[in-house]
Amino acid sequence: MVSTIRVVSVQFVWLAFSLCCSALDSRDYYNALEKSILFFEGQRSGKLPSNQHLTWRGDSGLSDGSSYHVDLVGGYYDAGDNVKFGLPMAFSMTMLSWSIIEFGSSMQDQMEHAKASIRWGTDYLLKASTATPDTLYVQVADPNMDHRCWERPEDMDTPRNVYKVFDFADQYRGSYSDSLGSVVCPFYCSYSGYHDELLWGASWIHRASQNGSYLAYIHSNGHTLGADEDDYSFSWDDKRVGTKVLLSKGFLEKSIEEFQLYKVHSDNYICSLIPGTSSFQAQYTTGGLLYKGSESNLQYATSMAFLLLTYAKYLNSNGGVVSCGTSTLTAANLISLAKKQVDYILGQNPAKMSYMVGFGERYPQHVHHRGSSLPSVHTHPNRIACNEGFQYLYSSLSNPNVLVGAILGGPDNRDNFADDRNNYQQSEPATYINAPFVGALAYFSAATSIAN
Ligand SMILES: *[C@@H]1O[C@H](CO)[C@@H](O)[C@H](O)[C@H]1NC(C)=O
Repeated sequence: MVSTIRVVSVQFVWLAFSLCCSALDSRDYYNALEKSILFFEGQRSGKLPSNQHLTWRGDSGLSDGSSYHVDLVGGYYDAGDNVKFGLPMAFSMTMLSWSIIEFGSSMQDQMEHAKASIRWGTDYLLKASTATPDTLYVQVADPNMDHRCWERPEDMDTPRNVYKVFDFADQYRGSYSDSLGSVVCPFYCSYSGYHDELLWGASWIHRASQNGSYLAYIHSNGHTLGADEDDYSFSWDDKRVGTKVLLSKGFLEKSIEEFQLYKVHSDNYICSLIPGTSSFQAQYTTGGLLYKGSESNLQYATSMAFLLLTYAKYLNSNGGVVSCGTSTLTAANLISLAKKQVDYILGQNPAKMSYMVGFGERYPQHVHHRGSSLPSVHTHPNRIACNEGFQYLYSSLSNPNVLVGAILGGPDNRDNFADDRNNYQQSEPATYINAPFVGALAYFSAATSIAN
């Protein structure tokens, strides 16, 4: 009874806020889509091409790998620092790719830019996996050392240590953080273990190749790799729910019976998100934002929005519905919740703040990002050393370089946001916050009638 009352009041407040601001239209979503992809240019490591749009950046990390006699130049800085973390980078590239697979036909002129943003990451990941036989390079730079400085990537002089795991994949089971804990944890420790990644990988290879041996692998190993567990968030670390949605397509669109299980679990996930269902258990702010935790919370909102829209698309392909105990949900319910998250992020929220940098009338000015907060190498070519940079971290001035399109960690559980560069939990961007949002924005930029 108590929970019913809460559900009703939450929906009431959502309605109140949805009346507060002028609605976004498809041009706004297209504009946000363009910016969400541009953000990846600001994160580029390596030699920049002549068609770079974020021109305040310069070449950096040009000798990454050289002291180990391998070429690890390129790829992306993960967030506001200058480390190249392989695990979240791979997730971000998968989510960009999935965005194109599902919603590329809505991207119009942004398609080529979206593809270029994937290519920049996958070229690097290919090098990292093929430079040396049986070796996977999983990270460049020691984050403990990197974080002692506030330096532009173009200036950095902290050790570009390279980390590898010899024993990987199915044959040699173990998490990379088992052997590399001191440098990947607590930054990108694999808390969820490796089972979710094995099933995620097998599902993608099956989707891409349609090779029956991966279907057999999923069938015989799925139960031990997490297929039977319900879980309620999707992130660079825990891919279980994403895998279930991906595999449910096989059941919904191709009637592969083995995949019915994944549709059931996808339904359970969706039910947990929608207020009013018997298994509802997500937490939302009063303004309607999914809230999972104080650090980089918007990653959960963007990835949820993507899964909702993707699942809605699969359901629509055969008139399917989501079963939540005695009630059912339609694709329109899912799209509506996704739109709520997208609009909130773009400024339709109690703080009237857009959490995408460079979008809308009000957006954060003190982004926790070294390159954006320090003067550009083009206007200030002299080196700014490790400790000299901290005056820019603590400065009250706005960032001189606009990291266009970056979505930040976002507000707290009361819809409050401190535009404070030193509050990295709220003011730091990350590639994995943006990547799923690209697909969601593509969807809404093309939707002719959008559910409210
Ligand atoms: C399917 O995948 C398996 C395992 O990687 C491989 O041995 C086999 O050659 C593949 N079959 C085809 C038709 O590509």
